Amino acid sequence: MAVSIKTEREIQLMRDAGKILAEVHEQLEELIEPGITSLDIDKKGEELIRNAGCIPSFKGYEGYPASICVSINDEVVHGIPRSDHRLMEGDIVSLDAGVIYKGYQSDAARTHGVGKISEEDQRLIRVTKESFFKGIEFARAGNHLYDISAAIQKYVEQNGYSIVRDLTGHGIGTEMHEEPAIPNFKPLFRKGLTLQAGMTLAIEPMVNAGKRKIWILEDDWTIITRDGTKSAHYENTILITEDAPEILSLL
Ligand code: MF3
Ligand code: CO
Repeated sequence: MAVSIKTEREIQLMRDAGKILAEVHEQLEELIEPGITSLDIDKKGEELIRNAGCIPSFKGYEGYPASICVSINDEVVHGIPRSDHRLMEGDIVSLDAGVIYKGYQSDAARTHGVGKISEEDQRLIRVTKESFFKGIEFARAGNHLYDISAAIQKYVEQNGYSIVRDLTGHGIGTEMHEEPAIPNFKPLFRKGLTLQAGMTLAIEPMVNAGKRKIWILEDDWTIITRDGTKSAHYENTILITEDAPEILSLL
């Protein structure tokens, strides 16, 4: 399957989906405080998504049981919401969510601090977010896909952190995961495809404070850092244009 180029009609639907998702994330951020459980966050997220006329794309995806991935501290991504996982002061928590609006998908993630967090954890969250913006400086028609990857990797590593290599970003549209896979590091001797206007991509750096290696827990979903250091995630769905990209999942 080739990478799809969206029509103007499809792009408008993806804009609508992205705005709804951005709004969901803003509302979820307000819930983040010591004492709330990851299941509370998931329930509220599902309600917000459905009330906006969308379907939560994660729910039931390959058997994933929830609408929001809630990943705490050394959990990198795909944490499963649980009533016995309560956020504590000083934790960091990544929320990843996806919506389907009139058949079109948007996917975005944010990492938040819980109460007062350390300066080092604030820096991890900030560098992860900034690496996304460094990457998308290269996201425009005519550039190569791995220009984005290389810029993300460079920024993260310059800051003394490591980028997870076993998971990638992805094309997105009527499916959550479309071609191409988008690594957050530059594969050796390769450039990746040439970007074209109308491509819609989910760019999602996952950054570990320590080493890049990960494990998967017994639940077959939750990804954690092998060395137990904290990890942050930041993701948006973007549209490639001839010019600077349009970030669809931001308000
Ligand atoms: N943002 C993640 C991704 O792009 C979300 C998938 S979680 C799942 O792969 F539960 F839906 F699998
Ligand atoms: Co994604």
